[in-house]
Amino acid sequence: MNYIKLIEKMKVNFDKIDWPRWPQYGQEEQDAVLRVIKSNQLFADKEVREFEESYSKYLGCKHALGIGNATEGLHLSLAALDIGIGDEVIVTPFSFISSASCVLMQNAVPVFCDIESESLGLCPNDIEKKISKRTKAIIVVHMFGYPARISEIMEVARKYNLYVVEDASHAHGASVDDIKIGTFGDISVFSMHQRKVLSVGDGGVVCTDRADLYEKIFKLRSFGHVELSYNYRMTEFAGALGKIQLSKLDEQNIIRRDNYVYLSEMLKDNRSLRVRSCRSNEYGVYYAIVIEVLNDYIDEIKVRVDYLKEVGVDIRETFVQPPLHKHLHFNPESDPARGAPWNHAEYDGVMQGGGYGKQLLNNAEKYCSPRILELYAHPPVNNKMIKKCADVINYVFNEDFYNGAFKL
Ligand SMILES: Cc1ncc(COP(=O)(O)O)c(C=O)c1O
Repeated sequence: MNYIKLIEKMKVNFDKIDWPRWPQYGQEEQDAVLRVIKSNQLFADKEVREFEESYSKYLGCKHALGIGNATEGLHLSLAALDIGIGDEVIVTPFSFISSASCVLMQNAVPVFCDIESESLGLCPNDIEKKISKRTKAIIVVHMFGYPARISEIMEVARKYNLYVVEDASHAHGASVDDIKIGTFGDISVFSMHQRKVLSVGDGGVVCTDRADLYEKIFKLRSFGHVELSYNYRMTEFAGALGKIQLSKLDEQNIIRRDNYVYLSEMLKDNRSLRVRSCRSNEYGVYYAIVIEVLNDYIDEIKVRVDYLKEVGVDIRETFVQPPLHKHLHFNPESDPARGAPWNHAEYDGVMQGGGYGKQLLNNAEKYCSPRILELYAHPPVNNKMIKKCADVINYVFNEDFYNGAFKL
């Protein structure tokens, strides 16, 4: 394949698509921010409490706590569960760094487990293989708003008496068998970072049904208590914006799902790609629509994706590269000040001495960038834009490019 010719060939002039930016804030959000400014109460108070009440009601859980971001929430969850030196926590290699680095924050040892090839979440069978007498908890990530195999994972957790923390950062409003994601585990954590489906700039929410965990997290969240605590509070601005965004969430998720359905339909005959779906008993919220590139000739994906971006489509090669077991946090080049709990004298488990980078986690390796693409179709992206976008995708991801039949 002549790379230069390929790029030239792509210079077919598609109209630029005016892809809407996310998030979409209007008058209501402006008024809310102004209200907070005028109140002169900017750190957590009434707005945050009201947001927490509406979120716990929405999720159907007993307690919700507003926090500064999901990374803090994951740390708080493990601290509340008393996970520390010598403990192992099973984590996924296919996620954002916080889903696993939170374990290091408690000086505990992450044990990476492979992902299941459809949901891209933890593989229940592999979890069972990774459990040892030191295992205390599993952190399950619902990637891109597609539910992980949570019912099967909960069965394994019950069998071995392990805690489950759901990292539902991407999955506000998703469900399995009509049960909301975030209510399966002992604790769940949602991100409200600007890019997420519930967006306030930076923010997060931790949810639980257990009163003891709620009380612990409540204390740890804010300085002023006798035991070691942090400043992981949500601001009033985030609380005020969170309430408004939550009231729009379901309606916006319907639009994301509609965009996903239409895109799948438009790309169904494309033999180079597969739009990833949820199972029929799952309600995915398609924070990102996951597109898998099927061909083995994957070295030219970047050119194609760059072209799509130029046309205006909000698409990218997945941020997961490398998978987390190869990340520097778990393979430090020199002795870090902290963060190498596998070297603690108290630890003699399977990860003793480290060696994360050498682990074989085949699915995580296979499905990271560039094979997996993320397409963002937040409202007000509509079917008309999806149609235009699908036309360009079908042009640049054309199997004939790969098999040499395409006339350059
Ligand atoms: C799966 C996952 N978990 C946790 C986080 C951390 O979220 P935050 O930016 O709110 O700390 C992210 C961030 O993108 C994420 O993608």
